[in-house]
Amino acid sequence: MQAELRRLAERGQFAYEFNSAGVFAAVSGWFKRRHNLDLDTGNFVQVTGVLTAAALLIRELTDEGDSVLMQTPAYHQFSKMISSAGRNIVTSPLKVDDGRYAMDFADLEVKLSALDVKVMILCNPHNPVGRVWTADELKTLTDIANKHGVVIISDEIHADIIYSGHRFTSLMAVDPANHVSLIGSPSKTFGMQSISDGYIYTQHSELLESMRAVSSSMYLDHGNAFTTFATIAAFNQGMAG
Ligand SMILES: Cc1ncc(COP(=O)(O)O)c(C=O)c1O
Repeated sequence: MQAELRRLAERGQFAYEFNSAGVFAAVSGWFKRRHNLDLDTGNFVQVTGVLTAAALLIRELTDEGDSVLMQTPAYHQFSKMISSAGRNIVTSPLKVDDGRYAMDFADLEVKLSALDVKVMILCNPHNPVGRVWTADELKTLTDIANKHGVVIISDEIHADIIYSGHRFTSLMAVDPANHVSLIGSPSKTFGMQSISDGYIYTQHSELLESMRAVSSSMYLDHGNAFTTFATIAAFNQGMAG
């Protein structure tokens, strides 16, 4: 990645660069090699980062006054993201089972059944508690969400930073046909937080089209030469710790 950034700097011209297709191919290749997950390059939407992606999705999937559920403790930006969009925050506290954090499915069953709760933000692996949710836990969660028509936004930005002995499962591997959207970026995996780039992935064709339109209308659907080619180089050649 450093070599790629040097090469870009040395070109000495910084005209517009559009290569989202290259980014999507690189992300898709990474997911296949690293997580044995097939992501279709035609199902991505380019955005500038994960927080942007989640903020846009919340606005697209809910109306002002609706509620968005998050599990607590939560990454501090989630509450700001929900309330600054004029949506209500509903929390489902994680519980502690045998000394480790777990989802409270009984609580989720009740809270996700409320008519105003349209969306849930899932953090997998979870920041701040560090749990890597298992396929069984994710299946139970999607069963409850689907029963109540709740869309899950799955923030998987920490997918590649897990302790050995644990296995990351994307929500896409559990319930790909659902309205679920996966969001991610190279920022944590490769330490590229301020070379900001990100993507939304969904197999829901209507959501895909609407998010493409939103991203395009806000002019968020392309990176610049540095972010784009650094992202491609990182996913194609990088190693996560
Ligand atoms: C769970 C989680 N989501 C999103 C972000 C920020 O993502 P981005 O910089 O791509 O907007 C962070 C950064 O700490 C994070 O921990």
